[in-house]
Amino acid sequence: LDDLSASLKARFPWLPLGKFPTRVERVAGLAPGDVELWVKHENESSDLFGGNKVRKIEFLLGAARARGLHRVRTFGGTGAHHVAATALHGAANGFDVEAMLFPQPLDDHVRALLRVDEAAGARVHRVRSILEVVPYRLTCPRDTAWLAGGGSSPMGTLGWVAGGGEILEQMAREELPPIDVVYCALGSCGTVAGLWWSLRRARPIDLVAVRVVERPVGRALTRHLVRGVSRLLRRFDATPPGARPVLRVEHGFAGDGYGWASPESRAAVARASACGLELDPIYTGKVMAALLADALAGRLKNKRVLFLRTQSTAPLDPRVLGARGLPSRVTCETSAAPR
Ligand SMILES: Cc1ncc(COP(=O)(O)O)c(C=O)c1O
Repeated sequence: LDDLSASLKARFPWLPLGKFPTRVERVAGLAPGDVELWVKHENESSDLFGGNKVRKIEFLLGAARARGLHRVRTFGGTGAHHVAATALHGAANGFDVEAMLFPQPLDDHVRALLRVDEAAGARVHRVRSILEVVPYRLTCPRDTAWLAGGGSSPMGTLGWVAGGGEILEQMAREELPPIDVVYCALGSCGTVAGLWWSLRRARPIDLVAVRVVERPVGRALTRHLVRGVSRLLRRFDATPPGARPVLRVEHGFAGDGYGWASPESRAAVARASACGLELDPIYTGKVMAALLADALAGRLKNKRVLFLRTQSTAPLDPRVLGARGLPSRVTCETSAAPR
């Protein structure tokens, strides 16, 4: 598995949905002067719907298609980016998508996501409680692939094993200097688990996972996914176990929990925006708040830090979806139901 992304894509069924590698860029003036801050623009991973879910869905929809399945079922919060990514990329690739959505705080972004889910033709069931997901999972028909929440099954996590491989390749090509620490949001844990698996192949790189959801089980779930990935890759991987990157789960910036902005995240968003970097207050703003707090406390002195900008910045206006790769059937339905 020398060239991780290429070899994973050669060995596992996979659908090419995103534009990779995603750009890396140095951002000056945001972190204190003794920290060299780099940003990986994962937000640009697709013009249809980008962000960190695309890599996972490439493997998940690839696996479904390899099993001959054209229907998928999944779940998330009302504004889950995983559900929107599945709805949009699924529709563009001929899948029939069904999703159960449990409540989360409503804001304009969440409403826009819900509109595009529906505009993409996904059958959406809004329920009162996450507990309803259990019977939904148990009654998933045999002709339908079940996709884990956030796309974080071992198979989906392969997307971020490949993503970590891409970071190593960018360093090898000297597009990116040797990085000391990577900062990323921790939700369903697949992104961090994939990175944790693949970054062990590099010089020591620390990983700071900033929790943005309620459940304080990030480390256990991440380990569970890493074990699942190791099982999937056992046949191919000859890498000596090697030191894993040091994983720190940062619990102090989740604020009131999933879907809620915090004063710290809003301040970090404003500060990043003043330096030309647009973030959101629910995910990436919390990560930036943690990074800036560490920098101000001197914990990142003379370090090169890579920040993952994980939220899609593709336009969410349902009317432009047709121009971005969705079947025209979807555009017609959409324009008939503007809100
Ligand atoms: C924009 C964004 N960034 C980061 C994450 C966290 O990724 P993961 O679910 O793989 O932990 C999520 C998902 O919750 C997300 O929507």
